[in-house]
Amino acid sequence: MTTRIIGTGSYLPETIVTNDDLSKIMDTSDEWISSRTGIRERHLAKEETTSSMSIEAAKRAMADAGVTPEEIDLIIVGTLTNDYMTPSCACEVQAGIGAENAFAMDINAACTGFMAALHTAHAYITSGLAKTALVLGAETLSKIMDWNDRSTCVLFGDGAGAAVVRADEAGLMSYRQGSDGAKGMCLYGQNRLNNNPLVSNPTKLEYIHMDGQEVYKFAVSKVPACIQEVLDEAGLTPDDIKYFALHQANIRILQSVSKRLKVDEDKFPISLDHCGNISAASVPILLDEMNRKGMLNRGDKIVLAGFGGGLTWAASVLTW
Ligand code: COA
Repeated sequence: MTTRIIGTGSYLPETIVTNDDLSKIMDTSDEWISSRTGIRERHLAKEETTSSMSIEAAKRAMADAGVTPEEIDLIIVGTLTNDYMTPSCACEVQAGIGAENAFAMDINAACTGFMAALHTAHAYITSGLAKTALVLGAETLSKIMDWNDRSTCVLFGDGAGAAVVRADEAGLMSYRQGSDGAKGMCLYGQNRLNNNPLVSNPTKLEYIHMDGQEVYKFAVSKVPACIQEVLDEAGLTPDDIKYFALHQANIRILQSVSKRLKVDEDKFPISLDHCGNISAASVPILLDEMNRKGMLNRGDKIVLAGFGGGLTWAASVLTW
């Protein structure tokens, strides 16, 4: 018994902001952004929130899977930008879709968030604690970007992706995940400081800070190694894999991973050109785009992989 993805859905905010649009409000250019990252535009939230996008993505995934809200017994959202400290985004999704039989919780594994949600759902399902789960990655990163820091804000976008997973004979074949907290400050965003009758700190808005080159070096070494491990464990070679659906941070990272695995770049689908990096939401949004374009047939073997803040990383091989 394992865990199979039986439906996908996603939601991107209505407003599209191109690189040229950004060049009108900061010292940057389409040439700089697209040549270094592959990103041409991103969707930014105006009215949408992390929860509202998640609810829409969840409804679309349930429609694709043909499941009712009552059948969902677990909801996990990977996010670092939930709307409230409590209730969690997952609890808001539960209320929004009427999944009254579900247990709901968020997971923060930054850009690895969807993979962490998927693997946690797998652990619940294979241990018998859940049967049908909704796993999501959702972010409103634009609210935690410093729009005066051109080296980070141009890279990220907003959106949500969801998958319905269920106990089945075929599905997840192997998975790996890891963290290196000692390198956490390569990509960080501080939360509230201590503030109580004993200590007083001024309330200050904090944003995401990133050492881009360190994160790049981490990604191009750890991600191919992790993918090779899940392939070995599943007894497969890269030739057996139809697609490698990776976290969408930077086209150069994807090209480097394809080179290290000796796999044609065509096997690495792209959504970062029109979405930018949406952290935990990247993988499920990409998967939903592939599903809706008819790129996936039942029985195909695919690799999913996420990596980012923490530092964290994860990959799995699955039968579609
Ligand atoms: N537009 C124009 N110029 C910019 C710019 C922008 N948006 N952002 C930075 N620059 C400038 C810098 O100020 C610097 O100028 P200087 O040489 O005069 O000091 C120059 O461009 C080079 O900056 P640098 O940071 O060295 O660029 P880089 O080649 O390392 O590329 C990244 C930066 C962010 C694209 C690259 O490091 C990267 O992709 N890293 C991975 C990040 C990532 O994917 N993180 C998420 C993982 S989940």
